[in-house]
Amino acid sequence: MRLHLNENTAGCSPAVLERLRALGRQDAGFYPDYGTARSAVAGCFGVPDDHVLLTNGLDEGILAAVGASFRDRSGGAPETVGVAPAFDMYEVCTTALGGRMVLVPLDRQFRFDPAAVQAAVTSATRIVFVANPHNPSGVPCGLDGLRALARAIAPALLFVDEAYADFSGESLIETETFARLPNLLVGRTFSKAYGIAGLRAGAVIGAPASLAPLARVVPPYSLNAWAAAALPVAIADRAYRAWYLEQSAASRALLQQACERLALETWPSTANFLLVRVGERTAEIVKALAARGVIVRDRSRESGCEQCIRITAGLVDDTTRAIDALEEVLCAVR
Ligand SMILES: Cc1ncc(COP(=O)(O)O)c(C=O)c1O
Repeated sequence: MRLHLNENTAGCSPAVLERLRALGRQDAGFYPDYGTARSAVAGCFGVPDDHVLLTNGLDEGILAAVGASFRDRSGGAPETVGVAPAFDMYEVCTTALGGRMVLVPLDRQFRFDPAAVQAAVTSATRIVFVANPHNPSGVPCGLDGLRALARAIAPALLFVDEAYADFSGESLIETETFARLPNLLVGRTFSKAYGIAGLRAGAVIGAPASLAPLARVVPPYSLNAWAAAALPVAIADRAYRAWYLEQSAASRALLQQACERLALETWPSTANFLLVRVGERTAEIVKALAARGVIVRDRSRESGCEQCIRITAGLVDDTTRAIDALEEVLCAVR
């Protein structure tokens, strides 16, 4: 059981698979057209088509934002700002493109502090990255604080990574918000709730003028034809998404209850995963779980996550088996 990358553990909707099976030689032979996929994504988020940039997974959206904002080097070496711990692609992309990432440590509860982040912004800052909900804790950041931060740091960009917003049900995406805050970009992915991580499809949503520099960085045929064909179908299958969100929420509650029973510290996650402090023997526990077929993510080397693992909350059946394995392993090591 892959419970380490927060994928949809049930996979994609059956309707998506049917659509992919119907693709033919010409779909493989011709460059893809993105009109239908882009409109479907715009409709899904309730924004006009020109507010959507499709990307090869949200990872590419992050890379494109860094690449576009680093083009102007007149102010010296470019910087990005983010919290620690965080999803590592912000720093990977920043350093890969010759910049430096300034990290603001979170407190023990992983509470987001907009004032502390704002204080780290200088004239060299091109982008502030914030994941809402936070990864790896799943703790939400608060939309009002994020909107105020966007206002305060302009002309630097605020890139809010909403990879897990399907699960939290909380989003900044609103056409009016982008009109008021043109330096706000929101990243979304179809890898999680929609179950098409293997196809690679994401999007950056924002004011058209702010997306334009990113669009010049993303290659013209970044999503392949299979991803472009799958997207509208994945989005249209509302029942499948709703079913999976219910499964994930139930799994998260089961995991939380199990951790309480086992006296393990957790944090109030609104995402499809839970960060769990399992104690000193993290590596041994991760290995023992893997030996029982349960792969979880060892986050213990990151600041603030000492002795912690992160477990995906997906299908309830998988979660029940994972909890059994965790109880067994903890009994053995304690
Ligand atoms: C916070 C966050 N942002 C972005 C991504 C990347 O998503 P994608 O699969 O769309 O590249 C992930 C994937 O784990 C993530 O956790």
